[in-house]
Amino acid sequence: MSDRSDKGMRDESARVRIFDTTLRDGEQSPGISLNKQEKVEIAHQLARLGVDVIEAGFPITSPGDFEAVQAIARQVEGPVICALARTAKQDIDAAWNAIKDSERPRIHTFIATSEIHMRHKLRATPEDVKGQARAAVAHAKQYTDDVEFSPEDGSRSDVEFMAEVIQIAIDEGATTINVPDTVGYTMPGEYAAMFEELYRLVPDLRKVTLSVHCHNDLGLAVANSLAGVQAGARQVECAVNGIGERAGNCSLEEIVMLMHTREPSLGLWTGINTREIARTSRLVSRLTGYQVQPNKAIVGRNAFAHESGIHQDGVLKERTTYEIMDATTIGLEANSIVLGKHSGRHALRKALEELGFQVEGAALNTAFKRFKELADKKKKVTALDLEAIVSDEMRESPAAYGLEWFDIEASSSRAPLARVGIRMPSGEVAEGSFTGDGPVDAFFSAINAATGREARLKEYHVSAVTGGRDALGEVTVMLELDGVQASGQGVATDILEASGRAYLRALTNALADSPVAEADHHIGAAGSAGTPAR
Ligand code: KIV
Ligand code: ZN
Repeated sequence: MSDRSDKGMRDESARVRIFDTTLRDGEQSPGISLNKQEKVEIAHQLARLGVDVIEAGFPITSPGDFEAVQAIARQVEGPVICALARTAKQDIDAAWNAIKDSERPRIHTFIATSEIHMRHKLRATPEDVKGQARAAVAHAKQYTDDVEFSPEDGSRSDVEFMAEVIQIAIDEGATTINVPDTVGYTMPGEYAAMFEELYRLVPDLRKVTLSVHCHNDLGLAVANSLAGVQAGARQVECAVNGIGERAGNCSLEEIVMLMHTREPSLGLWTGINTREIARTSRLVSRLTGYQVQPNKAIVGRNAFAHESGIHQDGVLKERTTYEIMDATTIGLEANSIVLGKHSGRHALRKALEELGFQVEGAALNTAFKRFKELADKKKKVTALDLEAIVSDEMRESPAAYGLEWFDIEASSSRAPLARVGIRMPSGEVAEGSFTGDGPVDAFFSAINAATGREARLKEYHVSAVTGGRDALGEVTVMLELDGVQASGQGVATDILEASGRAYLRALTNALADSPVAEADHHIGAAGSAGTPAR
């Protein structure tokens, strides 16, 4: 058995388009707050992965979201760049203004069609909803030919009413109809039956692209998406690592590898470059601060590991005894680049280029400095190390808090004491000190003291980028500030330094998301005033 039978001439009508919503629905996950630069970086990687559509954001929701969508539309080539809009005219105008510079812009407009949403959320009658859907698609169509329409909460909607709304959207020129399982309630058989019924009620559905969008509340997002494509849908909306509202969206890597591995039975295929999957997953995890569970299908650290002796023995004799996919298919051998302490700037730039990073000028100098520091401590610097330090540096911005210096005294006989110097967004350095239950606790409390913030630590994870005692440490922090949860990550050979960087990024992200955000709040006076981070 191989990963997939020989493809020969593939049937175009069996191609399933991958619509990636990592930067829109995925970004709506609690605690995720990506800045513009991070979103652009993820979008470039999604283009390398070969997704057909990038849903880059929801421009009306904030100036930050608008600017990020606009930057993606201007810089990322290849995929269609899509922006989300409710049916209101100003939503659609904002979506269009954000994406109009893309070579392939799409407006995605939606309105709920379920009784429960229309009555309680929209407080609108079914006739209003029909009118709003009609007006929205017509308005979007004035801007671009590529218009997607979604009847939100489709799987819980009355199918006959939803069919009427879909017919209106198609009559007004919608080219993609997406029927979401917004609350992750449906089951595969039901979802497929709903599509069969929709095809019967709206024969024009065969003239447009039918799309699925499934949430994972009952763990069925991938199964439901598969049922949808087997029923005729030719677009799957999904997110890298399955991130998204509540339990998340259909996981991109799972649905893609499912169609890839079982292509001989399913007869469906995608244009995804599967060798970019592992890297895309790492980048999204790193920038969102959402760790991938070890046993996650496809991209979990154990997805290709064999623990039992019988399995190990079998795989050594013949890989396919216990493996249905080859790890190299998702790019897991991508750790091949190795640099050492004598490698120069040119070798670094070349290695970064091979990894898909275009790093020049000041950014290259910074990357080179971090690389040299690492190469002094670690004999072999691998692709995974480079990826980690470059994406760590990319997150530095002048508007963020920065770690200037820290000093932590810890012993078994007294409470640890941390002192820190924090670069404030204004450029000034504020100092603070605090004791704590442990060095990390003291460190975070000292940061609170220096910045004058009362952030509380919610989660703290440490992992190693590669194996070995000299490995880079990667820390993820989730904190809460004035009711806003935000995460941040930091990478360094010193775990405490990585922790400080992660905490400061989470703090910066929480402030960016806070409704009362002020760019440069109170500069903490030197000393120990502040709040413990517990
Ligand atoms: O889950 C959902 O219904 C959505 C729509 C906006 C498509 O995300
Ligand atoms: Zn959704």
